[in-house]
Amino acid sequence: MRHLGLTLCAAAIAATALSACNKPANAPPADTGAASTPTAAPAAMTDDEKKASLAKLPAPYNAADLDNGESKFALCSTCHTTQQGGPNMTGPNLYGVFGRKAATLAGFTYSDALKAAGWTWDAAHLDTWITDPKVAAPGTKMTFAGLKDPKDRTDVIAYVMIRTGFKP
Ligand code: HEC
Repeated sequence: MRHLGLTLCAAAIAATALSACNKPANAPPADTGAASTPTAAPAAMTDDEKKASLAKLPAPYNAADLDNGESKFALCSTCHTTQQGGPNMTGPNLYGVFGRKAATLAGFTYSDALKAAGWTWDAAHLDTWITDPKVAAPGTKMTFAGLKDPKDRTDVIAYVMIRTGFKP
C-alpha cells in the first residue's frame, strides 16, 4: 500500500495536483489529547476563526488585515512568543500583555528604561512602542527598528491581541 501511495503521489505531482499529495502529510496526527498543551505553537486559524476573532476587537482593529498582521509579526517572533506559558526568548513572552504593567513579567530581566516607563500596555502604547521603541523608552534593550507604516502597526496589533488573549 505504501508503495502504491507513493506511486500515486508521484503521479499526482506529475499532474501538478500537489495539494492532493500534501494533504495527508499536513493532516494533524490522530487525537492524542496533547494538542492544547500551553506551550504548543499557535495553530493556524481558519478564515472563519479569523473573522470571528477580529469581530470581537475594538475599532480600528476589528477591520485589520490579519494575514498582513501575521506576516509582519514574523519581525517580532524572532524575539517573542505569544502563546500562554510560552518561553521568554530575547524578548518576554507576550501572552496577557494587554492590561499588564510594562516590564512586569516575572522571570524576564528588563532594562531599567522599560522598568521606569510606568505605563500599562494598551493598543495606543503598543502602537507608539513598535513605531520606534528607542524613542518610546530611550535605553530599552528591544533592538527593533520600528514599523513605520500605521496600517502595518494596526494589523500587527490586531494579530497580537488575538494571539495573546486580549479581553475587550
Ligand atoms: C530583536 C529582538 C526583538 C524584536 C525583533 C522585538 N522585540 Fe519586543 N522586546 C524585546 C526585548 C529585549 C524587550 C524587553 C525590552 C526592555 O526591557 O527594555 C521587548 C519588549 C517588548 C514588549 C514589552 C513587554 C512587557 O512585558 O512589558 C512588547 C509589548 C513588545 N516587546 C512587543 C514587540 C512587538 C509587537 C514586536 C514586533 C513588531 C517586537 N516586540 C519586536 C525584543 C524584541
